[in-house]
Amino acid sequence: MSRTALITGASAGLGVEFARQLADRGYALVLVARRGEKLEQVAQDLRQRYPVSVSTIVADLADPAAPAEIYRQLEGVEVSFLINNAGSAGPDLLVDRDWSKQADFLQLMMISAAHLCHLFMPAMIERGFGRVVNVSSMAARFIRAGDTNYGPSKAYMVALVEGLAGSTQGTDVKISALCPGFTHTEFHEAGDLMEMKNSLPDFLWYDARTVVREGLKALEQGRTVFCSGRLYRVLDALTQFGPTRWLLRKTVIDGLTSRRAQARAAVD
Ligand SMILES: NC(=O)c1ccc[n+]([C@@H]2O[C@H](COP(=O)([O-])OP(=O)(O)OC[C@H]3O[C@@H](n4cnc5c(N)ncnc54)[C@H](OP(=O)(O)O)[C@@H]3O)[C@@H](O)[C@H]2O)c1
Repeated sequence: MSRTALITGASAGLGVEFARQLADRGYALVLVARRGEKLEQVAQDLRQRYPVSVSTIVADLADPAAPAEIYRQLEGVEVSFLINNAGSAGPDLLVDRDWSKQADFLQLMMISAAHLCHLFMPAMIERGFGRVVNVSSMAARFIRAGDTNYGPSKAYMVALVEGLAGSTQGTDVKISALCPGFTHTEFHEAGDLMEMKNSLPDFLWYDARTVVREGLKALEQGRTVFCSGRLYRVLDALTQFGPTRWLLRKTVIDGLTSRRAQARAAVD
């Protein structure tokens, strides 16, 4: 029986790329996202290219009931690879006054991932094999003025992985937090961030294939927290060190933040 990978946010971007690279390794796939039609197109394409079974589950991970429903639908399936990848840009915690939007965002970005780890990881540990990638972001590694929700939620993903990694030590269950920098996907379009995207230089951008290839390799190497892209690994090393953290924040990060604010102001 082939091993099964469960991938959230698999209707676009990094999720589709995870699906391709895991299908190429022979994993049967279960793809999760909200847009059923898009998800089915991705599944059809994968079925044509790879000799693996591909099924889909339409679910909104902002709904607290979704992880348990996914688990219920997969009764009897041995999920040995879990990719918590679904995510989006979020509301501003202080500016957006609709708490339900904030709660949906936090449910999607943190609680659904923790819930899926809670549901699927114990069986992996029991069976003696498992792989988990929680997709975080470089936003978890830099403190950015005005980032009140997205970066903090991604920092939780790193902390969650670091905590869980301790519980899987000595087993063949590996877990990694993947921290991509800016990556060409639908993310910025979906989050109304195209002005910001267009204002940033090309060298900051990576393609999804590279990010996923590096992330899967780092997982196998047992890297608990991994920043994809050489540029971001250098920045990360610098920003984890006190004095350069301050200097970088003043020059690069504040610079980027104000360019983003300018781009937003130009739209308004
Ligand atoms: N692109 C970047 O620059 C970048 C950088 C660092 C980290 N990341 C992280 O990478 C992950 C993947 O993003 P991406 O760049 O591939 O963006 P993307 O192309 O916009 O894909 C996001 C995926 O998440 C799904 N999704 C969003 N909200 C959902 C919900 N409520 N329930 C279920 N699925 C949902 C979307 O599907 P539906 O709309 O069909 O539901 C889509 O499949 C995210 O966690 C993001 O935060 C991205």
